[in-house]
Amino acid sequence: MYRLFFTLVLRRFDAESVHHATVRALAVLSALPFVKRLLHRWLAPHDPALRVSAFGVHFPGPFGLAAGFDKDAACAEAISALGFGHVEVGTITAHAQPGNPRPRLFRRAGQAAIINRMGFNNHGAAAAERRLRRTRGLPVVVGVNIGKTKVVPESDAAADYVASARRLAPLADYLVVNVSSPNTPGLRNLQAVELLRPLLSAVKEVADGTARRTPLLVKIAPDLADEDVDAVADLALELGLDGIIATNTTIRHDGEQGGLSGRPLKARSLAVLRRLRARVGDRLTLVSVGGVEDVDDVWERLLAGATLVQGYTGWIYNGPFWPSRIHRQLSRRLRRHGMKSITEAIARTA
Ligand SMILES: Cc1cc2nc3c(=O)[nH]c(=O)nc-3n(C[C@H](O)[C@H](O)[C@H](O)COP(=O)(O)O)c2cc1C
Repeated sequence: MYRLFFTLVLRRFDAESVHHATVRALAVLSALPFVKRLLHRWLAPHDPALRVSAFGVHFPGPFGLAAGFDKDAACAEAISALGFGHVEVGTITAHAQPGNPRPRLFRRAGQAAIINRMGFNNHGAAAAERRLRRTRGLPVVVGVNIGKTKVVPESDAAADYVASARRLAPLADYLVVNVSSPNTPGLRNLQAVELLRPLLSAVKEVADGTARRTPLLVKIAPDLADEDVDAVADLALELGLDGIIATNTTIRHDGEQGGLSGRPLKARSLAVLRRLRARVGDRLTLVSVGGVEDVDDVWERLLAGATLVQGYTGWIYNGPFWPSRIHRQLSRRLRRHGMKSITEAIARTA
C-alpha cells in the first residue's frame, strides 16, 4: 500500500520538500496528546521481551531512528509513538546554519538508497535546548548527535563541540560525537586518533559532569580503513566511552556528490560491526546502522554484536509503520527461537 503511494505520489515531489512536510506533520502530532498516546499504545514496542538496557539507559525495543531525520528535535515524541525504540536527534551544531544549497537530497529508488549532502542544516544548539526542555508526555529515549559548525576551523573544533555538549548533554539520554558526515569539509579528518583524542576527551568531561553522567558515543564512517576502525575502537576503550555507532553514509559511489545510505551500505556496515565486535568484545555498546531494511537485517545485526540497531533510509522506502512492524516481527522471532528476551539473542554473540 505504502509502496504504491510512494511510487504514484511521493516520488513526484522533491525529496526534501516531502521530508519537511513530514517533519511538520509529525511536529503537529507531537503536540496532540490524545492522538500521540493512542498511536503510542497501538504502535510502540510494549513486549517486555524486547526491552534492552545499554549504558544504563532502558530502551523499550532495540530498533531506533538514526540521526538526520529529526535534525532540530522537533518531533521525537511522534516518531517514538510510531514505534521506534529511541530517536537520535541532530546533527546539531553550536551555531545555527543553513546547510548546503538545494537540491541536496536525492532518491535512488532502484537501489532503495538515498544520496544526501545536506551539510548539517539546523537551528543550532540553543534552539534544540529549548525544544528538548519541553516536558514530554511520552517516555521517549532521545539521543543527541552533535557536529562541528561549518565556519569553525578544525583547530577550534573541540571548543565548538563542547559548546553544544554543555547545552545538550544534560537533556540527552545519550550523546553522540559525529565526526563522520561527508558533507562538512574536513569533518571526517577528525576521526584520526591524534585529533579525535583531545576532542572526545573534552566532550567526555562535559558529559561526565552532568547530574546523571550522560553516556557518550562516537559515530564513525564506513569508509575508514579497517586499521582506522580498530584505532578508533582502541581510543574509545582508552577514554572510557560508552559505545560506537557504525556507520554513517559512504562517499564510495559514483552518483551525485554526497553520502550514500540504504541498501548499498548494508554489507560494509555489517562488516564494520563485526570488526568492532571482534576488537572490543563486550566492553563497548555497539549501535549498528546502515542499510537495514527488514527484521532479518535487524536480527543479523543483533547476532553480529549490536545491542541497538538504527535505520533511516528504510523508513523512507517502507513507510510509517515500518518500525512498529519490525518490533512486532522481532517479538515473534524471539518466541520462535525459544528465547525469552532480546538480551538472550545478543548474549549468543558474547
Ligand atoms: C537525508 C539524510 C540525512 C542524514 N543526516 C545525518 C546527520 O545529520 N547526522 C548523522 O550522524 N547522520 C546523518 N545521516 C546518516 C544516518 O544517520 C545513517 O547513519 C545512514 O543514513 C545509514 O543508515 P540508513 O542506511 O539506514 O539510512 C543522514 C542520512 C540521511 C539519509
